[in-house]
Amino acid sequence: MAQKSGANLATLDHGHALVLSHCGRCHEPQMPSTISAADWHTVVPGMAWNAGLAKADEKAILTYLLAAKKIAP
Ligand code: HEC
Repeated sequence: MAQKSGANLATLDHGHALVLSHCGRCHEPQMPSTISAADWHTVVPGMAWNAGLAKADEKAILTYLLAAKKIAP
């Protein structure tokens, strides 16, 4: 996944862990593939705010979700 997306492996790992630990607290975590890349860009900042996450964590989540989309479009 890191190779295909060009993203840093540690960032992807961090983003994945954050999605699992935070994004399923209020609702089922959404699959990366069910939302368009454009919509993820819109949704993640609001949801990261909901989850009380820092800007850097928000970026890691978005990077992870978009990378995962490339693997399973
Ligand atoms: C504090 C509770 C809370 C947390 C934490 C949370 N969400 Fe949400 N989420 C909501 C609520 C409430 C809605 C429905 C209302 C809305 O769209 O704002 C929602 C809706 C969504 C939707 C659908 C949006 C749409 O417009 O259809 C997506 C996708 C989503 N969340 C992703 C995430 C992701 C990714 C994270 C982790 C960064 C996350 N959520 C964390 C409360 C939360």
